[in-house]
Amino acid sequence: MEKVEDKQPEGRAEGKILRITKHGEKVLRQRCKTVPFEQITKLLPEILEDMWATMRAANGVGLAAPQIGLPLRLAVIDVKPGGKSKRWVLINPEIVEKSGAEESEEGCLSIPGLYAKLRRSSRVKVKALNEHGLPVEITGLGLFARALQHETDHLNGKLFVDRLPLLMRWKASRIIRQLKKNWT
Ligand code: NI
Repeated sequence: MEKVEDKQPEGRAEGKILRITKHGEKVLRQRCKTVPFEQITKLLPEILEDMWATMRAANGVGLAAPQIGLPLRLAVIDVKPGGKSKRWVLINPEIVEKSGAEESEEGCLSIPGLYAKLRRSSRVKVKALNEHGLPVEITGLGLFARALQHETDHLNGKLFVDRLPLLMRWKASRIIRQLKKNWT
């Protein structure tokens, strides 16, 4: 017979799946605050676990902190290149270089149900801090470059629909009005 353990299993619990804020909510429209890394180190692992769990549950490739109601310059990305998971944590990210252009279908977990073709830079270089507070320089191509731009936009209160050409933006706003009725 095995001894029944009364203590919690080792390691941190899985992250919580949080509600994702939606288009129309204020927190998505503000310039997020710089993460004070030294002050947040204790809380950061939990915030990140929650962000990963929330993103995974929603089948996303990226999630920004304002999407869980937290107006901080923090985002996570996992575009699964070749099906393989590669988790990127971006703290206070800044795009320092952009080049090329590529049009591709894009969507956002904060505007569920809406997808539109959007032209973005095909290669970007980003400076950020990683989850250990160390400065990193990340170069992204294709879908990863798109995700880096999309998530950085979130931290500046911008949504992908804002970047659509005028007529498309108008069409999108009509569709969003309909979609909103079904959002929770
Ligand atoms: Ni988004």
